[in-house]
Amino acid sequence: MYALVTGGSQGVGYYMARELKMRGYELILVARNEEKLKKVAKELDAKVFRALDLAKEYRAMRELIEEFKPNVVINNAGCGFYGDFVSQDEEKIMKMIDLNITALTYITKKAMENMDKGYIMNVASIAACRPVPKAAVYAATKAYVKHLTASLIPEAPPGIYLSYLLLSPTATRFWDKAEWPTHNIKWIMLSPEKAAKRAIRKMFKGKKRIAVGPVSVLYCLGK
Ligand SMILES: NC(=O)c1ccc[n+]([C@@H]2O[C@H](COP(=O)([O-])OP(=O)(O)OC[C@H]3O[C@@H](n4cnc5c(N)ncnc54)[C@H](OP(=O)(O)O)[C@@H]3O)[C@@H](O)[C@H]2O)c1
Repeated sequence: MYALVTGGSQGVGYYMARELKMRGYELILVARNEEKLKKVAKELDAKVFRALDLAKEYRAMRELIEEFKPNVVINNAGCGFYGDFVSQDEEKIMKMIDLNITALTYITKKAMENMDKGYIMNVASIAACRPVPKAAVYAATKAYVKHLTASLIPEAPPGIYLSYLLLSPTATRFWDKAEWPTHNIKWIMLSPEKAAKRAIRKMFKGKKRIAVGPVSVLYCLGK
């Protein structure tokens, strides 16, 4: 049984992959940095790993999904970008949309087409639940992830469990890469290991809307 984790080389995705390995799955890992991916693949004994920029090369996932027919697909790779919409670099904005929306949609479709039974978890964010000034496009991409997945849940055939993760702030490199100041939210940050374990546990329980941590539960209440 295979489990595919995009962005499985670091952060939350790495701990999700580790948890899935401990639960007996053979891993398929995808991320851009080949060296890092190789190191993690060796550590986690991942049978399959591919260095792909999913913002551009997401169609390569078709072959991988058709060949290995993973029973678990975690659409985790994603990025953020903080700043004023008007002054933000447009290329970075478009790449974020390509990764957070286009690649995730494509992979979800291919996974649903090829899966007999299993789990698909799409990583959204608490940013999906409310407007986020200075991170407008990021919040909108995560609202898309939440809405897409929630809309697909009734379409999923029996045996396929779709879920979306409303992840609250978690201590990973995400924030530095997004140039997102963290001084006033550091105190609420989850550990990526704990967040990943809880998310995977809830996914296997068949939860559709997965809120991890008290911040996520409160912030997304009724959303
Ligand atoms: N950290 C938080 O507080 C937080 C909160 C809510 C939601 N989230 C969401 O959680 C997910 C994981 O975030 P994280 O915090 O674990 O971030 P992270 O530490 O930056 O890890 C991101 C992972 O995705 C891979 N990745 C990034 N861009 C990629 C691309 N274009 N193609 C393929 N792989 C790519 C990275 O590897 P390479 O760089 O080698 O490609 C890495 O493995 C994201 O979807 C994020 O939006 C995070």
